[in-house]
Amino acid sequence: MKSKGQRVLSIAIIFCVTVCLTYYSNVKVWNGGRLSELGEESLTVGSVRKLLEDEDLVTERIHFPGQQKRLPQSLIIGARKCGTRALLEFLGLHPLIQPADQEVHFFDNDTNYNRGYEWYRDHMPYSYPEQITLEKSPRYFITEKAPERIHRMNSSIKLIVLLRNPTTRVISDYTQVYYNKLAKGKDMEKFEDLVIDRKTNEVNTGFRAIQISIYYHHLLRWLKYFKREQIHVVDGDKLITNPLSEIKRVERFLGLPSKVTENNIYFNTTRGFYCMRTPKTEQKCLGLTKGRKHPYIEHSVLQKLNDFFRPHNKKLFSLISHTFDWD
Ligand SMILES: *[C@@H]1O[C@H](CO)[C@@H](O)[C@H](O)[C@H]1NC(C)=O
Ligand SMILES: *[C@@H]1O[C@H](CO)[C@@H](O)[C@H](O)[C@H]1NC(C)=O
Ligand SMILES: *[C@@H]1O[C@H](CO)[C@@H](O)[C@H](O)[C@H]1NC(C)=O
Repeated sequence: MKSKGQRVLSIAIIFCVTVCLTYYSNVKVWNGGRLSELGEESLTVGSVRKLLEDEDLVTERIHFPGQQKRLPQSLIIGARKCGTRALLEFLGLHPLIQPADQEVHFFDNDTNYNRGYEWYRDHMPYSYPEQITLEKSPRYFITEKAPERIHRMNSSIKLIVLLRNPTTRVISDYTQVYYNKLAKGKDMEKFEDLVIDRKTNEVNTGFRAIQISIYYHHLLRWLKYFKREQIHVVDGDKLITNPLSEIKRVERFLGLPSKVTENNIYFNTTRGFYCMRTPKTEQKCLGLTKGRKHPYIEHSVLQKLNDFFRPHNKKLFSLISHTFDWD
């Protein structure tokens, strides 16, 4: 039998260890800013967010009284290779945004979808009532059934879609697949051979990466279910060169006060892109699979792709009442 004094001591030790661990892991640093802004006691830490080095990383979370898992009130729906992970991470700096670390693939995968909303909710992070739960799965953008399904869950949900120069997106898409194959010791066809149909010498519209970049085609489907005001378009190219201006626009779209500042985002010259910094100078960059160099592509092929996308882009610009400088 322990004496009362011993018991109090061991409880105090456990308490101290918990607090210290919480403090010295990035938890406190990462979420500490949020808490004071939320008016919570500093020990009622939000959720644990480990450093993300990969899209598929599973993160562990603990939760505190007042927190619950909620269905997302906002979704980043795509497009693939337009900076969806970066945007999610940047937005995670905001005290009132709780991002789901994993791509849940609920609306684009029949198996997952048939598991129902409770399964989906269970994959969400813990959040406080005033926070917005945000999930991203880039495949939603191109999935036929996704708009209807999402509309059925919440017809007033806020959707965020990132778009970038469609030719650049194709190249980035190719680069990722190329590296994935390389890692498995497999060869990949040359870019030119995939995007150009040898027989016709025209752009190969059967190539999936090309299809994804015909943004107009996909967005049209979303606008059958959602009002234009419900879909916020992020300039994926700008997100790379000047992320803060794009983040501020998203904050406004979500109806949140502007909280992410120059202090949180800095250009990392080693990595060649913007990384994040918390108030205590902890650094966080996207994984090594991000910001990879694109292969050299022949000018004539680029020209051909640009020419191919131009009329589709024009239709997109009029659909969203916004023009991008993609030529
Ligand atoms: C859908 O999800 C299930 C289970 O999560 C997985 O096994 C399956 O491969 C997924 N299907 C597709 C087409 O990705
Ligand atoms: C649906 O989404 C809107 C916009 O984010 C949000 O205000 C509302 O609470 C959501 N409804 C439910 C039931 O989650
Ligand atoms: C850039 O990021 C790396 C981690 O990816 C870090 O080790 C390095 O210190 C950063 N550089 C600067 C200048 O912050």
